[in-house]
Amino acid sequence: MSANTFIWQGREIPFVAGESIAAALTAAGILTFGPDMSGRETRYFCGIGACQNCLVRVDGRVVEACLTAAHTGLVVTAAGGAHG
Ligand code: FES
Repeated sequence: MSANTFIWQGREIPFVAGESIAAALTAAGILTFGPDMSGRETRYFCGIGACQNCLVRVDGRVVEACLTAAHTGLVVTAAGGAHG
């Protein structure tokens, strides 16, 4: 794995230090983050932790992608569905 990358659904995603997972995914052209636990498609929306629309699973824990800083080596998947 390269420095300043994390894994999203098996793909290496680059990020800038201090960037959130949601920002890095969006910059990589990934605009939807897969289904949450109820099957609803998630995406970057409010960017401040208010809407719960950006839930993803990071190393097995469900978090808001807009509030979670990207770190090298993180494994990020959809919060629910087949990847949860
Ligand atoms: S985009 Fe609204 S909580 Fe993350």
